[in-house]
Amino acid sequence: MRALQYLDHGPADLLKVADAPEPHAGRNQIRIAVRTSGVTPADTALRSGRLGRRVPLPHVPGVDAAGVVDEIGEGVTDVRKGDEVFGIVDLGKLGGANADHAVLAAWAPKPAALSWEQAGGAAANTETATRALDLLGLNDGTTLLIAGAAGGVGTLAVQLAVARGVRVIGTAGPATQDFVASLGATPVVYGEGLTERVGEVDAVLHCAGTIADLVTIAGAPDRVLTIADMAPPEGVRTSFMADPGTFRQALHGLADAAALAEKGLFTVPLAGVFPLAGGPEAHRLSETGHAHGKIVLVN
Ligand SMILES: NC(=O)c1ccc[n+]([C@@H]2O[C@H](COP(=O)([O-])OP(=O)(O)OC[C@H]3O[C@@H](n4cnc5c(N)ncnc54)[C@H](OP(=O)(O)O)[C@@H]3O)[C@@H](O)[C@H]2O)c1
Repeated sequence: MRALQYLDHGPADLLKVADAPEPHAGRNQIRIAVRTSGVTPADTALRSGRLGRRVPLPHVPGVDAAGVVDEIGEGVTDVRKGDEVFGIVDLGKLGGANADHAVLAAWAPKPAALSWEQAGGAAANTETATRALDLLGLNDGTTLLIAGAAGGVGTLAVQLAVARGVRVIGTAGPATQDFVASLGATPVVYGEGLTERVGEVDAVLHCAGTIADLVTIAGAPDRVLTIADMAPPEGVRTSFMADPGTFRQALHGLADAAALAEKGLFTVPLAGVFPLAGGPEAHRLSETGHAHGKIVLVN
């Protein structure tokens, strides 16, 4: 099968489409014929070597995808071959989705309301946003500030929080204010003076930018949850795969988001759509730090 892959850690140019062995579904897994798959900042960080973590090479990046089920592992009873699904790979493998076939460890039926491109980039960020909102435990009528509301995770977190009855304020650059407003948040420009512009909120979800002001805005460090800063100020809550013992994927978010999409209450904004061979361009767009929505590869 074809797979986007790299033979060594380094710049995006190292990504090539080449032949790779077909994976197979293990217990509680399914395999899909991939139509579309996602690119995340974790893929680019891992590829570049910035994470300091190396993977067996060659490595196929991508942690989420959408496609048609073509192999069903032992123990799986909720799908049949030919079903259209979107989902996440086994995160322990740190990749495998940017290929003709991918093995998924969690999935939900692809909602008709999402295009293949949107579905291919939906799963990982939906899980992350759902996990963060569950941990923050916000009630109907509370106010949440999302720092980085225009990014892959932020765009979905805004919509999922609004669907929970939360009032959302989202930070973004000056050129991205209307985009953030279109998702249901009150936009504010990040940077100097943010504290005065926002006022008080009940909680903060930190996806991008600096945390210092956010603790002041929330009133206490434990009202801030970061998914992006692995060494935040003391008391700020974190949710990372690397958190020993505390990391639990919020996989129920996939079906919940699909149901919201069918009601017209959830969509996946796309920052860029590239062919599989456009992997280097897709990674470079992610590495700008200013992608607006999700980056997706089409097979
Ligand atoms: N812990 C986890 O489980 C987990 C899971 C997924 C992702 N992550 C991490 O979460 C972070 C966000 O991921 P992502 O996919 O959303 O990234 P992304 O799509 O690359 O984020 C890009 C966005 O960040 C915004 N941005 C840049 N500088 C900003 C600033 N100073 N303040 C506010 N917004 C700013 C940009 O908006 P403008 O262009 O308007 O500036 C752009 O829309 C990454 O660090 C990623 O590695 C963690």
